[in-house]
Amino acid sequence: MQLTKILIRIDKEYEKLLSEMKISDKRKSHIVGCVEMSFALAQRYDLDPYKAVLAAKFHDYFREVDISEIIELAKNLNVTISDFELRFPRVLHGKVAATYFSANGYIEDSEILEAIEHHTLGEAGVGNLSKLLFIVDAIEKFRIYDGVEALRTEIEGKSLDEAYILVLKRTIIDMIRKNKILAPATIGAYNYMMEVGL
Ligand SMILES: [Fe+2]
Ligand SMILES: [Fe+2]
Repeated sequence: MQLTKILIRIDKEYEKLLSEMKISDKRKSHIVGCVEMSFALAQRYDLDPYKAVLAAKFHDYFREVDISEIIELAKNLNVTISDFELRFPRVLHGKVAATYFSANGYIEDSEILEAIEHHTLGEAGVGNLSKLLFIVDAIEKFRIYDGVEALRTEIEGKSLDEAYILVLKRTIIDMIRKNKILAPATIGAYNYMMEVGL
């Protein structure tokens, strides 16, 4: 299926969700970048392009709502909040979105929900769609940071697991360089990949 056809289908099926999505122009570009790259990588790694595009389209649904609103939503949806998430509540936007979509019957597919939930930090033992969205979120064409070009080039020709590990590594190294606290989920994801091996 072509990307334009997928997008037309999503516009029709998710009209209400899309009309209620509050995102800035900058974020809109990021979503476009994610959608395009998800579609391309789904083909490269033989994953369902519709699912990949749908996950990309809605992964940042709550990215720009106020922190207080995210926490309120999390409480109302009975989302379990870890110590790390309590300290950095912005990272909850994926988990809250996945739970919101599921609780309201908008999205039921467990792979899509898992990908949306873990797109920011990664997670040990997640499936291929989640790995794809984690990679895409970090290196889509509108992302700008030191080393992003090199990372994009580096994943060319790599398997999905190899690419996922490369992005996890960069995330961890970058956090260390900036003297930031490492997210346990990201370390867990990296350790898991090291343990299962390639
Ligand atoms: Fe996000
Ligand atoms: Fe994102």
